[in-house]
Amino acid sequence: MDSWRTIFEPFRIHSVEPIRVTSVADREKALDAAGWNLFHLHADDVLIDLLTDSGTGAMSRDQWAAIQHGDESYAGSPSWFAFQESVQALFPFRHVIPTHQGRAAERILFSVLGGPGKIIPNNTHFDTTRANVEASGAEAVDLVIAEGRDPSRIHPFKGNVDVEALERLLAAHPGQVPVVFVTITNNSGGGQPVSLANLRAARAVCDRFGVPLFLDACRFAENAWFIRTREDGQEGRPIVEIVRELASLADGMTMSAKKDGLANIGGWLAMNDDALAERCRNLLILTEGFPTYGGLAGRDLEAIAQGLREVVDEDYLRYRIRSTEYLGEALHRAGIPVVRPIGGHAVYLDARALPQVLPLEYPGQALACALYREGGVRGCEIGTVMFGRHPDGTETPAAMDLVRLAIPRRTYTQSHIDYVIEVVRWVAERAGDLRGLRIVEQPAMLRHFTARFEPL
Ligand code: F0G
Repeated sequence: MDSWRTIFEPFRIHSVEPIRVTSVADREKALDAAGWNLFHLHADDVLIDLLTDSGTGAMSRDQWAAIQHGDESYAGSPSWFAFQESVQALFPFRHVIPTHQGRAAERILFSVLGGPGKIIPNNTHFDTTRANVEASGAEAVDLVIAEGRDPSRIHPFKGNVDVEALERLLAAHPGQVPVVFVTITNNSGGGQPVSLANLRAARAVCDRFGVPLFLDACRFAENAWFIRTREDGQEGRPIVEIVRELASLADGMTMSAKKDGLANIGGWLAMNDDALAERCRNLLILTEGFPTYGGLAGRDLEAIAQGLREVVDEDYLRYRIRSTEYLGEALHRAGIPVVRPIGGHAVYLDARALPQVLPLEYPGQALACALYREGGVRGCEIGTVMFGRHPDGTETPAAMDLVRLAIPRRTYTQSHIDYVIEVVRWVAERAGDLRGLRIVEQPAMLRHFTARFEPL
């Protein structure tokens, strides 16, 4: 028999980390001390940490072994060449510029391309991407298809760019759009994939207006798996081939290796344009480091080089996508509103479904705090706390109020996920008792990381 239904973790556990079990009383105290902001918790007060899938994955035996090959030469380290070769095997851009994580790549790129009067479209900008665009003085515009803004609408590629809206934007603002971005998968919109057909169409529009196209490729392998399993004519195609086709449709990319690099830190910026690369490298030297390490240790470069070989493995991706879907489908079957289809790296609960908590009372934050209080499960609000405040200080409800349960790669087993299902169901059964929050303290930018709240 070759087609068993159970899709198990395609690895054995080699080294274990203890999880400290806490009580509701412990967690209430921790919540109060954290100002009802889960970013302020001590992580050892968390039972199952689904705050992010970024940098929280487990490295493999071969990655730990690769770390021993780390060469810490300041310039021209063999670890740099291993990293560059591994990146270019998937993304054959002429220039690869290592950075300590994704947002460093964003800051460098938008410092060069952004600025007042510029507009940078994306299917949906993630928080740091939007913040780095806005910090340069440029405007960040989200152009995902309408299906991508409706949590319950089923569409195989809900991350797709609204190509007609992109065309209108480029026609209306000649000379103002220095680059078009496409995020694969679309994290802020539910971890939803972009199809090859959509990327080709976006590419054609960019070509017509002479504007470069860049990928925010954090979760490229998960996106490629969805293409292979959902897009006409792509069935059974090798993942590496799909990734290379994605790359071939772009002029460059930003990347956080903390996601599909299967590493705990790292990222890069890559592009074909020689003049742009030179300007970016000069900025890199200013704050990140010499262009053959860019803020990373040689051992980190080695871990990423190996991670990139593992992440395109079909057994891994089948398990990865299936295990996220397992959580999402169980919650959906229990009648809990979740973004569907289930995304690649996370399940997103729809907190707008709580009728008694108004969007400006932060239903996502309230729900995330309840999951922590009841079961020690830490998720992340992706809604009005994260996106509701504008650079001019005004506040409006975000497009959606979601709670993201992001699954770290290769870290939790099915029984951990069964526990999460039990906790979410318990909270959902008592959702009528949930109350909103008000903000008592917040910074001007990226407030979700540091704001403090009080229950209403
Ligand atoms: N782009 C996307 C789509 C992301 O999801 C992230 C990070 C970044 C860029 C920035 O990368 O963290 O390495 O600087 N997302 C994490 C998350 C933090 O939780 O989704 P970074």
